[in-house]
Amino acid sequence: MIRTPVSASYPATRLRRTRAHGWSRAMHRETVLTPADLIWPLFVTSGNGVEEPVASLPGVSRWSVDGIAKRAREAVQLGIPCVALFPNTPGDARSDDGAEAYNPDNLMCRAINAVRQACGNDIGILTDVALDPYTTHGQDGLVGTDGYVVNDATVAVLVDQALNQAEAGADIIAPSDMMDGRVKAIRMALEMGDYPNVQIMAYAAKFASAFYGPFRDAVGSGDRLAGDKKSYQMDPANGDEALREIAMDIAEGADSVMVKPGLAYLDIIYRAKEAFGVPVFAYQVSGEYALIEAGAAAGVGDRDALMMEKLIGFKRAGCSGVLTYHAPQAARLLGG
Ligand code: PBG
Repeated sequence: MIRTPVSASYPATRLRRTRAHGWSRAMHRETVLTPADLIWPLFVTSGNGVEEPVASLPGVSRWSVDGIAKRAREAVQLGIPCVALFPNTPGDARSDDGAEAYNPDNLMCRAINAVRQACGNDIGILTDVALDPYTTHGQDGLVGTDGYVVNDATVAVLVDQALNQAEAGADIIAPSDMMDGRVKAIRMALEMGDYPNVQIMAYAAKFASAFYGPFRDAVGSGDRLAGDKKSYQMDPANGDEALREIAMDIAEGADSVMVKPGLAYLDIIYRAKEAFGVPVFAYQVSGEYALIEAGAAAGVGDRDALMMEKLIGFKRAGCSGVLTYHAPQAARLLGG
């Protein structure tokens, strides 16, 4: 007697088989997230012993330079390889031309020094190149009489800003301004200035996004900003153009490229990785972070689970790493 008749109705393949137990799920996992995938953005403020919570980014504070050094030590302990620094420039140091950006004693340079002293070369220091934390108008570049952000004159200032950061000890220069030609100009200046090993991570495909609001609060540019950044940041509808931006920055000498924001642009990450095979990073921006926190607080789901699911999505899409304000929490969960 045949006890188990073969039936055409049995599936030939049961994908659920490998999902039945934790050990098996672990064995078949295609993508892993480790603390080394995380870059931790930090906001720098004036003074000493100062911590200023950022209201629109629950759980995130601005720290004075001494506090930044402590956060960097924490990052090393957690296995986070790199911190990204953003200054909240005091109001009286902001100007129309953003000249504070290339002051060798600005908050950014002091923070770079403090991190280097605290951690030596155990951590990478990524610095943002753009003028918005230094200008009275909150735009990333110089504003012409007609209100248009001028490209080439801005690039000249960005070069000075980048050299100033390299001189202070930055490891990775990250231009976030979206001017045309700035990667090439900065690369040449770094070469000629004897900084051949300072990397450039280009904010290559950066979109004019509604998700930057809390960041602008954190660096104090939000209230100052009149108008928008649509004449230089990209239209969220454009994917082919993002690939052209990325191709251009690679050709100009970028070591790695960034897509920003993250979650709404996973297709760009995937396409960039497929097309160019270069290191691609995502910036999970302030608004994305704030939405997870707000969602968790509203009972949408478990905060840690929401956070980790979004982070693994970046890895699956092809990212080498993610800039995220959740870096310390995620690293702790990952056992860092
Ligand atoms: C500015 C800059 C922005 C961010 C990083 N660099 C904001 C903007 O373009 O207005 C946003 C990061 C975030 O929202 O977390 N050059």
